[in-house]
Amino acid sequence: MATEQNNLAAIIAHCKEYGFVFQSSEIYDGLAAVYDYGQWGVELKKNIKDTWWRSMVYMHENIVGLDSAIFMHPTIWKASGHVDNFSDPMIDNKDSKKRYRVDHLIEGHVEQMSLGNELIVQMEALLAKDDFGGLKQLIEDNQIKCPISGTCNWTEVRQFNLMFATQLGSVAEESDTIYLRPETAQGIFVNFLNVQKTGRMKIPFGIAQIGKAFRNEIVARGFIFRMREFEQMEMQFFVRPGTQKEWYEHWKKTRMQWHLDLGIAKDKYRFHDHVKLAHYADAACDIEYEFPMGFKEVEGIHSRGDFDLKQHQEFSKKKQMYFDNDIDEVTGKPYGNYIPYVIETSIGLDRTILMVLSEAYTEEDLSTEDKKDSRVVLKFPPKLAPIKLAILPLMKKDGLAEIARSLMLECKDSFLCFYEEKDAIGKRYRRMDALGTPFCVTIDHQTKEDQTVTIRYRDSMAQERIHMNDVKDIVMQALK
Ligand code: GAP
Repeated sequence: MATEQNNLAAIIAHCKEYGFVFQSSEIYDGLAAVYDYGQWGVELKKNIKDTWWRSMVYMHENIVGLDSAIFMHPTIWKASGHVDNFSDPMIDNKDSKKRYRVDHLIEGHVEQMSLGNELIVQMEALLAKDDFGGLKQLIEDNQIKCPISGTCNWTEVRQFNLMFATQLGSVAEESDTIYLRPETAQGIFVNFLNVQKTGRMKIPFGIAQIGKAFRNEIVARGFIFRMREFEQMEMQFFVRPGTQKEWYEHWKKTRMQWHLDLGIAKDKYRFHDHVKLAHYADAACDIEYEFPMGFKEVEGIHSRGDFDLKQHQEFSKKKQMYFDNDIDEVTGKPYGNYIPYVIETSIGLDRTILMVLSEAYTEEDLSTEDKKDSRVVLKFPPKLAPIKLAILPLMKKDGLAEIARSLMLECKDSFLCFYEEKDAIGKRYRRMDALGTPFCVTIDHQTKEDQTVTIRYRDSMAQERIHMNDVKDIVMQALK
């Protein structure tokens, strides 16, 4: 479990040292806010994706998956409002020429000066009214300085669009501007009728998607918390108008339960209800987790009305209607044609990875009276751990490697195993702790006599002797 020893710098260093996350393009001095997942990070990521997919798609008979393209027709982003409205208020310092997101600048100042919440409340009220003059005034009145130049020489506050644009087509004059999608959700909306018709889906039903999204975040910070290229796990749930409130509450509860099922304590989460709602939304909230840098959003749940489908109907001139032949008890007639309302659940995969890492990262002091000792252990739930089982012959010779290899062969089709015969056994255990491997088994000379092995449990470090035939079952049981 997480301890107060957790801190972001230690987690970042651990991720690099043990092959979880690398800075993108590192040998070229890196690319800001872009990261690569290493050999164990990619496994952790896959396990989180699988957990989400199972819980959303396999456990719900009325939710199906989708994998839509990253490039989409540019009019989609006009219809969705992203071309006109997907922007953040920014301010430039005239001396350093650095650009800041206004909320980050003010939050940073509050944090640095250890101020109370008052300034944040004032800022949120001004942001809610899009009062840019007021925001600039707030920055000047509180003498908030540029962290680089140290001056208060600010421009006006302006909106900057966060979408990355590129050209489709090789002939410059004929090419079209298209965008790297800033969310996966629009791919779901524009396929709503394709999936509904081909899957013979009846309302209420959902479409789930995991995929890359891109945002030109001006100030990207917090390691994999805020990235320019990231992944989202989104689900749009289509409901009959008038039932959205109860479905919104349902998904709030269901999604919070998913978080708790990761084994994370309830007090590490909280809901943050949005005060400023988009004009079409009737409710929205974030699930916030207590990261090393404080409570921050990891997932959003939004009741979006019929806004998106209606916009696509208008811009594409193609009907986005659903025919509901269920009988309305009031009129005694079928509900008939309507554009469904949507409840969206949208969780950042990379933020979830950081949450799971923050929760798992533990520094333990194992010193005794005679000896100083410590370990870093990643206490992942077994289903999320990159490696499930390490198979460690005490030595290569005397036929121990062959026995270990036979156990590998038995298990490796069912879960990821790691084989290692080098180094002292204690050193190998510590390395597996640092990678978060829940089980290690050691094959020794006694194994040759009675087919027993030593199993070592990561969290307690307890060891016991079990029959080799039971190893696979123990691991499989823990993965359930
Ligand atoms: N379709 C709704 C939508 O995209 P959002 O609140 O903008 O809503 C949803 O994003 C989630 O995506 C967030 O809760 C967060 O976990 C993740 N996310 C958003 N921007 C991100 C970024 N720059 N880096 C990493 N994750 C991000």
